[in-house]
Amino acid sequence: MTAVGWGKVILLGEHAVVYGYPALAAALDRGVTIDAVGTPAGGPLRLDIPAWDLRVSASARDEDHPVARALAAIADELGIGRPAVSLLGDAQIEHSAGLGSSAAMAVAITRALLEYSKRPQDVKTILAAASASEAVMHGKPSGIDATLATHGGIGVYRKSAGLRPIHAKLRVLVAPSGAPRSTAAMVDRVAQATLSGRTKADAPTTNNDERLVELGNLTDTGTTSLLRGDLAGLGGAMNRAHEVLAGLGVSTPQLDSLCEAARATGAYGAKLTGAGGGGAVIAIAPRDKESAILAEWKHAGVIGFVASVGS
Ligand code: MEV
Repeated sequence: MTAVGWGKVILLGEHAVVYGYPALAAALDRGVTIDAVGTPAGGPLRLDIPAWDLRVSASARDEDHPVARALAAIADELGIGRPAVSLLGDAQIEHSAGLGSSAAMAVAITRALLEYSKRPQDVKTILAAASASEAVMHGKPSGIDATLATHGGIGVYRKSAGLRPIHAKLRVLVAPSGAPRSTAAMVDRVAQATLSGRTKADAPTTNNDERLVELGNLTDTGTTSLLRGDLAGLGGAMNRAHEVLAGLGVSTPQLDSLCEAARATGAYGAKLTGAGGGGAVIAIAPRDKESAILAEWKHAGVIGFVASVGS
C-alpha cells in the first residue's frame, strides 16, 4: 500500500509556535507518497524521489547528505536496523518551499517502513520517528509540520497540547516563490530578534516578546473568525501577521510583493507561510478573485495553486 505524508500551510502563528504559542494550520491535499519494495538481492536501505532529484541510501557512502541521515534516524527510531528495502517516492509539493515537505517525507517513509515490517500504524510511533528526522533536518522544530503531515485536517496546534482539530473547510491559494530557505536559519533569526541576540541553540523555550504574543493572539482572532465563516476577519489577521513576521526579519521583498499583488487583486488576506526567508505565500480570497490572483502571481513568475483544506 502506498504511504502518504501530507504537506501543510500555517495560516497563523508560525515562529510563535516554537515558543509555545498557538498556531492555526491545515494539511494540504497533497504531499509525499512512498512505496517500500524489498530488494531480494540485498543492499542498503535506499530512498528515491525523482520529483526532487533525490537518491540517497542510509549507508556510509551518503552520510554527509542530510536526507540520508534523516532516513537513518527514522530507521533507528523504529529499531529496524537497515533492511534491504527501496523506498520509491513521489512528491506533489516542492521541497524547501515552506510547505512542510521534509515532515511529509518523514511521515511517508515511516508509514511505508511500518507497513513493510507488518507493524501497526501507531500515531505515537509515527510522530516519534518523524520528529527524529525533523531534528536532523531542522534542529529543534515545534512539531507542527510532523503533526499535520500525520493527522491531516485543520486545527490549532500547541507544543504542549498537540493538535486540536476544528471543523472548517477553506480554499487556500498557495504561491511557492521558488526561493529556497532554511527553517533553522529563520528560527535563529527570530531568536536573535526577540532574545537580545541569543540564538535558538541557547534560547529558552519561553519567550514573552510582544511580537510573538501578538502572533499568538492573531491565531486566536483568526480561528474565531474562521469558525464563524468570517473570511474577511481571517484575512485581516493574516495581513497583520505578515506585517509582524516581516518586522521580525523573516520576509523578503519577493514575498512582500506576492502578498501585495494578492491583496490588490481582491484577496481578504495574504501572508508568508512557514519559516519565511523564501518559501511560500498564501492568500484567502473570494472564489471569483482566485483566477485573477493566480494570473498576477504567474505574471510575477510564480505558478500558484488552490488547495482545499479541512473538512
Ligand atoms: C515551520 O513550518 C514553522 C516554524 O514555526 C518552525 C517550527 O514550528 O518548527 C517557523
